[in-house]
Amino acid sequence: MNADVSRYGVLGQPIAHSKSPRIHAAFAASLNQKLLYEAYEIAPDELAPSLARFHADAWAGFNLTVPHKQAGFALSETRSDAAVAAGAVNTLIRTATGWHGDNTDGAGLVRDLVANLGVAIAGKRVLVLGAGGAARGILAPLLAEQPAIVAISNRNPWKPEEIAAALKPLGNIVPRTHLSLKGDQYDLVLNATSAGHKGEVPRLPPGLFAPGATAYDLNYGPASRPFLDWAAAQGASRLSDGLGMLVEQAAEAFQRWRGVRPETSAVLADLRG
Ligand SMILES: NC(=O)c1ccc[n+]([C@@H]2O[C@H](COP(=O)([O-])OP(=O)(O)OC[C@H]3O[C@@H](n4cnc5c(N)ncnc54)[C@H](OP(=O)(O)O)[C@@H]3O)[C@@H](O)[C@H]2O)c1
Repeated sequence: MNADVSRYGVLGQPIAHSKSPRIHAAFAASLNQKLLYEAYEIAPDELAPSLARFHADAWAGFNLTVPHKQAGFALSETRSDAAVAAGAVNTLIRTATGWHGDNTDGAGLVRDLVANLGVAIAGKRVLVLGAGGAARGILAPLLAEQPAIVAISNRNPWKPEEIAAALKPLGNIVPRTHLSLKGDQYDLVLNATSAGHKGEVPRLPPGLFAPGATAYDLNYGPASRPFLDWAAAQGASRLSDGLGMLVEQAAEAFQRWRGVRPETSAVLADLRG
């Protein structure tokens, strides 16, 4: 191993499917930077000792994915505002004494919506489905775009109450239940649930999409199809999966590690191809 080459990785379980090594290799090549980025399958009880070992071995940074985002938050010595708002960490940056925890999921989503897809958030009615780590990660950055309202709804109805109460100081966020959405209309509906991995769609009332509305699934590939097919049948005008978010959150992480933000369009086109 060349000691001059900074080492990064992604930790998760399962991890074999991860596109992150390919994305970061492409970013590094596009910027002519030499770095190593690898995927490691790490069980939950192995996260703390693994991070201690990686730190002792002078690794420079990590992405954390399912199921490590909340544990990574607890294991971070210091945390960004985005990580604190999310209660979860997807990016670790090495410091002299430990790991600084950050969360780039929300910044990546907003970048994909606004810059890549041209979907406005300011002044719009936004519905977030789900209340897990991904939903928590995107809410504060969405509120920073000053939508008219952000409603959050989840299968377990208590979680949105807690989340909305905690984020109230950041903007107009209201908790809903799937049932109480009946009669509401939204300009942007974001599926931040993992239901699509089981071929399922959250049980929602009809009529949620306002004229011209966008449906966006944070999932990509086959897991995004159930929600996006349902949204199309419900009259959503625009549909997008979360592949752009994946690439943009990676670019945000790369920037925090390397001080330069890679260009993303070629990588996204390559992944779609
Ligand atoms: N594109 C990207 O870059 C990106 C980034 C992050 C996450 N994601 C994707 O986003 C999804 C959510 O991730 P996460 O980390 O938030 O997962 P998580 O913490 O496990 O949360 C899962 C959420 O999905 C809900 N859910 C699960 N099955 C459901 C069903 N059958 N019907 C209705 N709701 C259901 C859960 O509701 P309960 O609370 O009721 O259990 C919970 O709100 C994952 O599929 C992940 O791959 C994508």
